[in-house]
Amino acid sequence: MHTTIAPKTHLAPTKLASETYLLHDHQGEGTAPVCVPLNAMVIRGVEPIVVDTGMPEHREQFFADLFSIVEPEDIRWVFVSHDDIDHTGNVNELMDLAPNATLVGNWFLMERMGASLAVSPLRQRWLGDGERLDLGDRTLVAMRPPVYDSPTTRGLFDPTTGVYWASDAFSTPMPVPVRDVAALDPMFWDEGMLMFNQYVAPWLTMVDETRFQACVDRVQALGASVIAACHTPMIGRSHLDQALSATRRSTSATVAPQPDQAVLEQIQRTLGGHGS
Ligand SMILES: [Fe+2]
Ligand SMILES: [Fe+2]
Repeated sequence: MHTTIAPKTHLAPTKLASETYLLHDHQGEGTAPVCVPLNAMVIRGVEPIVVDTGMPEHREQFFADLFSIVEPEDIRWVFVSHDDIDHTGNVNELMDLAPNATLVGNWFLMERMGASLAVSPLRQRWLGDGERLDLGDRTLVAMRPPVYDSPTTRGLFDPTTGVYWASDAFSTPMPVPVRDVAALDPMFWDEGMLMFNQYVAPWLTMVDETRFQACVDRVQALGASVIAACHTPMIGRSHLDQALSATRRSTSATVAPQPDQAVLEQIQRTLGGHGS
């Protein structure tokens, strides 16, 4: 059977705060019951910074969206929140296109990426959890989110706007691409966060409850006005409490199992194979 897949939805960048934009992307649309956000962010201050770099297969749209906001030669910093491909997918190409940019990473990120990171140490700045990055008109703070899937992970907080970039935390699927979690059904969103938190970080069910809640407290104490992250529509002030609440409950929630071999065989049949 031949299935026609509609063209992929494109959401133009969303303004999160003054000079701060969310670059939208997603995957799964048209081929799965839900799709997954794959965002990045840019802060266009005195020293513009790009926060995460999108997926390689969506490179053309990523650069079109990014360069509609900031000229490549004006980009001063490229912050990679951790070493997974959905955050580093265009880092080498972006560093080539932005000759005045410095990559903000850390030692372990460089080690784990190995030869896949084609950025000289001469163009890097290492920023650990809790450390600050002075951009002239603002000083950003690296702040590890409570949920993450790589030891290199740092989030990024901008005290001048209250925007916090949470990397893989607060992730959720979405039935269709949307800009803001306010457009999701509240129950769907809550279950989505619980599920993705445990998928991203299966160790959540094993953590010391008191110590984990202290990690959430640390992020809550930032007093963010907006949370943005790679795998969620933007989370505005009115929805921050629910996002933090779901994170707190993720240690003990019962969530749907991940797709298994039977699902793969369904996919294989859809693709015209036999399955096994
Ligand atoms: Fe990740
Ligand atoms: Fe991710």
